[in-house]
Amino acid sequence: MTRLALATERAPSSVFSDPTPALRILDGLARRIAAGHRQPLARAVGLHKTRNLSVCDATAGWGLDGLVLAALGARVTLVERRSAVAQALRTSVQRLQDEPRLRETLMRLELIEADARTVLGGARHWDVVYLDPMYPQTRRRALPGKALQTLRALAGEDADADALLAPALASARRRVVVKRPRRAPPLADRAPDFQVRATQLRFDVYLKLHAGDGPCAD
Ligand SMILES: C[S@@+](CC[C@H](N)C(=O)[O-])C[C@H]1O[C@@H](n2cnc3c(N)ncnc32)[C@H](O)[C@@H]1O
Repeated sequence: MTRLALATERAPSSVFSDPTPALRILDGLARRIAAGHRQPLARAVGLHKTRNLSVCDATAGWGLDGLVLAALGARVTLVERRSAVAQALRTSVQRLQDEPRLRETLMRLELIEADARTVLGGARHWDVVYLDPMYPQTRRRALPGKALQTLRALAGEDADADALLAPALASARRRVVVKRPRRAPPLADRAPDFQVRATQLRFDVYLKLHAGDGPCAD
């Protein structure tokens, strides 16, 4: 397991002109942050009710979802197992430190390069564990965006994704949230307690019986 410090090093070049895929997709960050605490991702995680949740984003990828959650107030641990992806993510985050508006957000981020199964299920707990494993591409679905295609080429298909749900439930104090394509079966074929739906996708939410949590408390 490699723990990477994110809030100390600086890179000189301009964040938004960098040609790497990791930085290009971060262009969309400001728009997503502006969507605020009522957007589906934030509601699924519970940030619309409690701002300073700790979240383990156990399938970090380019870190876009994790960065949005951190910008909305969460303390986020990003876990990514593919070295090339983790390295690109680290470079992106270091360059974002030139953006004054994101400085506080970056202080709330931690990146661990490891398989999430070695991080989850141990002594450490988070309020929320967030999972967004790669979903197999089907012929009926439209081609994903370029950033996701690049990620798919680097990271593969995450065929072992079902194995993440049990350790995620063991490590979450409040809930586990799983991002899925709109019509995909639930992870590990386990029905969630409730769903938050967005246009192209949905978030399956598994509750850990915490007072005040749940769809009715929205
Ligand atoms: C669909 S992408 C996540 C995209 C991410 N939510 C974002 O906003 O950029 C899935 C990522 O999870 C990583 N991943 C899948 N299973 C993992 C595991 N067991 N441990 C750590 N990372 C994992 C893959 O390598 C891939 O980079």
